[in-house]
Amino acid sequence: MENQISPELKPYRQPDHEISADYVNRWSPRAFSPEPIDDESLMRAFEAARWAASSYNEQPWRFLLARTDSDRAKFLDLLIPANQEWAKTAPVLVLIISKKTFTMNGQPNSVNQFDAGTASGYLTLELSKLGLISHGMAGFDRDRARTVLNVPADFDLLAVFAIGKHGDPALLSEQVREREVPSGRRPVSESVMEGGFTLPKEKSAEEDTIPDA
Ligand SMILES: Cc1cc2nc3c(=O)[nH]c(=O)nc-3n(C[C@H](O)[C@H](O)[C@H](O)COP(=O)(O)O)c2cc1C
Repeated sequence: MENQISPELKPYRQPDHEISADYVNRWSPRAFSPEPIDDESLMRAFEAARWAASSYNEQPWRFLLARTDSDRAKFLDLLIPANQEWAKTAPVLVLIISKKTFTMNGQPNSVNQFDAGTASGYLTLELSKLGLISHGMAGFDRDRARTVLNVPADFDLLAVFAIGKHGDPALLSEQVREREVPSGRRPVSESVMEGGFTLPKEKSAEEDTIPDA
């Protein structure tokens, strides 16, 4: 099964072009097993994130980790209720923050979030390759998180990621279980624009016309 699209994802996800199945196999379930994950796997994922490119190699990302019961309760309390409902079983929560200025000269770093996003992509891809799942959340109280977690003013609070092992979707509430479906994507051709910004090609009037019988 090395580098194959996983059978549970295949009905929902078929790439238009041949790529490593690793990209397609990463998805964001909400059914987390409460089973802990081993430290080494987690550190391997942070190691992957470490090698992301960044402007002037600033590496603006930082990862605030919650693994103990008391830390997890503290982080969980910062999430919006809709996220708390399923994230509460995840054994690890990580808040990704990003430094807004360059360390070398204190000037604003306009691409800090872009670079931290790259790092989070590497992190989640590595977790998936290790057989773990992750689910990002923008739904949390940033102001309260800044205070509770002592985040300095020079850092943006970007997203909290739940990390763990895939659990049993049957244990989710009915409302959450209904959303436990792998997402698809629009075609590559609708994201790539040749030569400048172009609107998606409209269907021509003829294509819409039903031919005469
Ligand atoms: C930065 C970020 C924030 C997100 N915020 C939430 C959130 O607050 N709650 C939620 O249920 N899912 C959230 N998601 C999950 C997205 O909805 C999901 O990644 C997207 O639908 C694509 O699905 P996939 O990750 O399974 O490929 C977030 C994802 C990212 C990357």
